[in-house]
Amino acid sequence: MKLPLIKLFFILLSLFGLNLSVYAAPDIANGKKIDQQQCYACHAKKSGFGNGDMIYTRSDSRVKTLQNLKTMVARCNTELRLDLFPEDEADVTAFLNQQFYKFK
Ligand code: HEC
Repeated sequence: MKLPLIKLFFILLSLFGLNLSVYAAPDIANGKKIDQQQCYACHAKKSGFGNGDMIYTRSDSRVKTLQNLKTMVARCNTELRLDLFPEDEADVTAFLNQQFYKFK
């Protein structure tokens, strides 16, 4: 049986689309929104700085590598039961790294 070319095209397209959603680049804007909505206020209060960004730039930051950052985001997420999806965790990690930590 000969597969019509158009059908092949759609099969490839759907495979490719699937891949894209699995390996999608992090959504920085979504990460920023999550930080503002779910993280900022508590960090502002807990750090005593009154500014939710400063916990990420404090000189005694425990975060020294990208892996540390992922771990801290995951810790705040699970311990505080913020219920972020893994994609959202990745987005907020990417945002914090781009904005504050700048690890390679
Ligand atoms: C209910 C309070 C609270 C919320 C909500 C919260 N955090 Fe935190 N977070 C903390 C506290 C407290 C620390 C400091 C922990 C320490 O010093 O060991 C911290 C530290 C961090 C750090 C390490 C900062 C550094 O450089 O030392 C990261 C990264 C972080 N939080 C990410 C997040 C993200 C992302 C969210 C939102 C999805 C979030 N946190 C929500 C309380 C919170």
